[in-house]
Amino acid sequence: MPSTRFLLTGVTGGLGAKILDDMLDKHHVPASDIIATSRSENNRSRFEAKGVQFRVANYERLDTLVEAFKNIENLLFMSSSERDNPKRNREHENVIEAAKQAKVKKVWYVSLAFGGFGDTSKIGFQQAHYETEDKLKNSGLVFIALRAGVYADAFPLFLNWYSSTKSVLLPEMTPPVAEGKIAFASRDELGEATATLLAKGHDAFPAIKPRTEKNIILLTGPKAESRLELVSAINRGRNTNIAVKYLEPTDWVEECTKDDEGGKPRAWFEARVVFTQGVCDGDAELVDPAFETLLGRRPETGTETVERLVKEDSGYTWHQNHARQGGAELSILSGS
Ligand SMILES: NC(=O)c1ccc[n+]([C@@H]2O[C@H](COP(=O)([O-])OP(=O)(O)OC[C@H]3O[C@@H](n4cnc5c(N)ncnc54)[C@H](OP(=O)(O)O)[C@@H]3O)[C@@H](O)[C@H]2O)c1
Repeated sequence: MPSTRFLLTGVTGGLGAKILDDMLDKHHVPASDIIATSRSENNRSRFEAKGVQFRVANYERLDTLVEAFKNIENLLFMSSSERDNPKRNREHENVIEAAKQAKVKKVWYVSLAFGGFGDTSKIGFQQAHYETEDKLKNSGLVFIALRAGVYADAFPLFLNWYSSTKSVLLPEMTPPVAEGKIAFASRDELGEATATLLAKGHDAFPAIKPRTEKNIILLTGPKAESRLELVSAINRGRNTNIAVKYLEPTDWVEECTKDDEGGKPRAWFEARVVFTQGVCDGDAELVDPAFETLLGRRPETGTETVERLVKEDSGYTWHQNHARQGGAELSILSGS
């Protein structure tokens, strides 16, 4: 059977959908060179309508993955949205095992940027990414770890912000929150850059050299900015005057758990203290030029994205800020 150039996972999600659309519409990759996947067979018709092939691929079921990955040159391995780290690690193990069994030629793993090119971030969900990267390194597969910048689009999560919020409450840390900066990236631009890399191939970008034994390409925004700067961006975009208040971490967890509008549980806020400490320690501040090289322009900064989003929609929401979405309980303990 002839091989197919690309198999893309995660294409029903926000990032993967942008990657697929750009590969087709901007880079004119022939639809017959692409296989889209989902856990659900119900998604077949929406992809076949675009002319791309479709296969079911469920990270929880090795058999579906081995079947789906047959005769594939490039596998876009989107990290699972599962928030339970041991479960997510098992899912990712299945993907790697299936890629080995199916002899996939190259794996592009969509990882996350905490720790920059290093492995020192203590943040729970980043540890899970490190583990997957380690497994890829030891698998014998040819792979790239695309460490994606932190979504600016997810700002409600980082501030526990809702459109009704009058003041943003943050835990008081050392070093202080004002010094904890993130090189945010917008999800759409991350999709655009990834599509460009896949469609044109790595050889088209000799300036981008994967680093370390984990072949890391870091896709981070052009400027590291603090969460206080995001609050200012919300105020500018919505013409409001939200203040920032601080509480000692245990009091912050207590206060936030009392009546969180999104219904997130205590464990979520406890994990957020670890997240905040990581940010204050500089885990997400590294700016790398690869993202700009792939886009061919300066990427949006986090504050530019946030201001734009709240101007477009003053009631902006981010799904992961809500424990219940459409009646379904989301497992958001680690909440990336
Ligand atoms: N960089 C950041 O700041 C940031 C923020 C949030 C999340 N992330 C990570 O980046 C990924 C993509 O982000 P997104 O915004 O596009 O997420 P999203 O909109 O929630 O989409 C998640 C995608 O993952 C697929 N998926 C989830 N579990 C799967 C499983 N067991 N087997 C196969 N496919 C599975 C889903 O496919 P089906 O439902 O069709 O099967 C869906 O297409 C997330 O999954 C998460 O790991 C990164």
